[in-house]
Amino acid sequence: MSLLLRLKTETRPHHERTEAAVRLLEPGLTVDDYRRHLELFLGFHAPLEGPLTALLDPALPELCMRERHKLPLLEEDLRALGHDTMSLARLPRCARVPSLGALPEALGCAYVLEGSTLGGQLILRQLLRHFAGRAPGGFAYFRAYGDAVGSRWRAFGEALLRASADAASPDFDARVVEAARDTFDCFGAWLRGEPGPT
Ligand code: HEM
Repeated sequence: MSLLLRLKTETRPHHERTEAAVRLLEPGLTVDDYRRHLELFLGFHAPLEGPLTALLDPALPELCMRERHKLPLLEEDLRALGHDTMSLARLPRCARVPSLGALPEALGCAYVLEGSTLGGQLILRQLLRHFAGRAPGGFAYFRAYGDAVGSRWRAFGEALLRASADAASPDFDARVVEAARDTFDCFGAWLRGEPGPT
């Protein structure tokens, strides 16, 4: 089974638990609820983006990690929702993020963050319908790469499979899957306001 298929099947229950902590599809969603989600997403991405890029850029420059950063998109949305530089800096950051030991852990974590742009397209359509122009901002985070969401996801998958083939070690693949599970669990715990998996 390819590593991509393993990731999809072996992290499914973790995706489902994390998905359940995202309340953006609820009929009663308010602008405050939407802002609160974005604040939490920022708190999770902020401590991860730098270390992830530092690990992935040298090994897989074709991923262009800097162009995949979500912090600028989250900040753009949150500024439209009333935040400024000071208040963005004061937002809480997640303390229990997945540990990024080396390349396999970084790939497992990036799999989760990149994959969230797929579910993000479904969420975007629902938010556009739900708010119908009543929420400030352009939903930059959920738009992510716009028309390029599909092609960027495929490019990520190809780079992941190349790295796995180069490593040619079951241990490498197992570490990627474990890191992806851990990333889902840390994200879910953060969204639920729990301390995080131990
Ligand atoms: C309400 C919340 C969510 C919904 C409704 C949702 C829905 C989906 C859907 C429909 C897909 C498949 C898209 C496709 O194949 O074209 C998907 C894929 C994925 N989502 Fe989510 N998602 C949600 C939240 C999240 C979150 C918060 C994360 C990350 C923390 C995440 C990570 C992923 C990953 C990694 C994939 C790729 C699975 C694969 O094909 O290997 N999702 N999601």
